[in-house]
Amino acid sequence: MESHHRNFSINLLLILILSLFFMSATTASFSIKEASIRDIQQAFLENNLTSRKLVEFYLHEIETLNPLLRAVIEVNPDALDLADKADEERRRIIAEGNHLGGLHGIPILLKDTIATKDKLNTTAGSYALLGSVVPRDAGVVEKLRKSGALILGKTSLSEWAYMRSFHNPKGWSARGGQGKNPYVLSGTPCGSSSGSAISVAANLVTVSLGAETHGSILCPSSHNSVVGIKPTVGLTSRAGVIPVAPRQDTIGTVSDAVYVLDAIVGFDQLDAGPTKAAEKYIPDGGYKQFLKKDGLTGKRIGIVRHPFFSFPHGSNISQVFEGHFDTLRRAGAVLVDNLEIEHIEIITNPSHSGELTVMKAEFKQSLNIYLKELITSPVRSLANVVAFNNNHKDLEKVDKFPQDMLIAAEKTHGMDGEEERAIVQKLERLSRDGFEKLMTEHELDAIATPGSDFAAVLAIGGYPGISVPAAYDEDNDGMPIGICFGGLRGTEPKLIEIAYAFEQATLVRKPPSLKSTSEDEKRSITLLLVSSQ
Ligand SMILES: *[C@@H]1O[C@H](CO)[C@@H](O)[C@H](O)[C@H]1NC(C)=O
Ligand SMILES: *[C@@H]1O[C@H](CO)[C@@H](O)[C@H](O)[C@H]1NC(C)=O
Ligand SMILES: *[C@@H]1O[C@H](CO)[C@@H](O)[C@H](O)[C@H]1NC(C)=O
Repeated sequence: MESHHRNFSINLLLILILSLFFMSATTASFSIKEASIRDIQQAFLENNLTSRKLVEFYLHEIETLNPLLRAVIEVNPDALDLADKADEERRRIIAEGNHLGGLHGIPILLKDTIATKDKLNTTAGSYALLGSVVPRDAGVVEKLRKSGALILGKTSLSEWAYMRSFHNPKGWSARGGQGKNPYVLSGTPCGSSSGSAISVAANLVTVSLGAETHGSILCPSSHNSVVGIKPTVGLTSRAGVIPVAPRQDTIGTVSDAVYVLDAIVGFDQLDAGPTKAAEKYIPDGGYKQFLKKDGLTGKRIGIVRHPFFSFPHGSNISQVFEGHFDTLRRAGAVLVDNLEIEHIEIITNPSHSGELTVMKAEFKQSLNIYLKELITSPVRSLANVVAFNNNHKDLEKVDKFPQDMLIAAEKTHGMDGEEERAIVQKLERLSRDGFEKLMTEHELDAIATPGSDFAAVLAIGGYPGISVPAAYDEDNDGMPIGICFGGLRGTEPKLIEIAYAFEQATLVRKPPSLKSTSEDEKRSITLLLVSSQ
């Protein structure tokens, strides 16, 4: 078992955190919507807010908006008790003159792949795991609780982190239904950490955690106008997280995300190899020190246009991004334009590069280990999951939503085969001769690209990336689009400086115009629900 774990660590898996950067340093009157963790903690200290009030606010928003958005699968029945406990504890700790944990009293939602040992289920959106009992909190959850965070619930996702079928719509799962983009209800929320992004975008929670193997944090962050950090693989523990491909899997966060990142990074005995190897990247004093408004000064940023700039030349969105590049230059960055990444066509095509082949093999191998470690579970193997879906067609809707990727993964034989080993070496070579060579040759701190397609480059090498809201595409119903800053392993400090300074220079993010109170809105929500069934 132990050696299997080690194997995976050199294989694929990613986890991510979503939130907003600090939108404002000072606010005249306190409003929970769009408030940052720092705002909220200040309000706690000034006795203007309690964790109970905050949780009550979010529970009300979830109750009102979730029938439409389907971002939350389960709410923690103990949330209000946990809030009361946090309020009491805060008074006691302050009275004793001691320090509060970095996330003390802050509610957080977790992607439904992140295990919690409480009343919440952990199911990856599938009925096959409903009622399963996990052995313990995931490593990152243990760290969150230690820093004082309250687990508010579980978010929806693309089922099995999109490993059920690439033919299914992103953001859909049997248990969660179809997650909706709060900006463009008819558009995609992207995935697979769809609910984590939607819930932060729509102010259903302050921060949420997601996980990324290939784009699963960066893409929904871009589409839902929130900040998403996908950390270097190994910086955050994957123990207790329903896996996809541990070689690429990672857990992440932004600004507020930076507060969460500070709480969740570090060694975990149950994901020992990768978390030990990445420990050297964690800066003394944590990541908050890199939230600097002048963070762009002297940074060298590469622009790789092909194939990441697919907008029609002269279109509004293309002009908006040229404007952003000017902003980066004005803020003191040096832009190195028109760069090319060797073999980019292969890297961005997972079927062609072999990434998909190893992902399927790794998924089966690591999922089977996860399922065997459960205390009780309706399913104990990927084969059981496929059979469960076939035997519960009514629940799992397999006629409408296929499970061909689960079936294909079941046919693989683990990561020890010659083919898999050769592919892993090929992916390492593609990263070395492509992204790494480009970064070193031009002495770059980051590559900036529109949207989240760059996630493909970051995925195969375990590299970090941050998505920051950048625009609303008027030619596409106002669909949000982010800018992605990607860098070499362990360069989170530089990426945070760049992303935060960009955010502060542009302040693009605006909340979606959903109203939680109007009767008209409720009527249209009901109509929408009727029509989507
Ligand atoms: C807290 O309340 C006081 C008095 O009502 C007000 O002056 C102060 O700005 C509030 N603080 C925050 C963070 O809202
Ligand atoms: C977890 O699943 C069980 C069904 O097995 C259900 O009764 C329970 O309400 C679920 N928990 C939450 C918090 O929704
Ligand atoms: C793009 O369109 C928006 C909305 O119509 C407008 O506010 C903005 O100025 C345009 N940007 C450019 C660079 O044309």
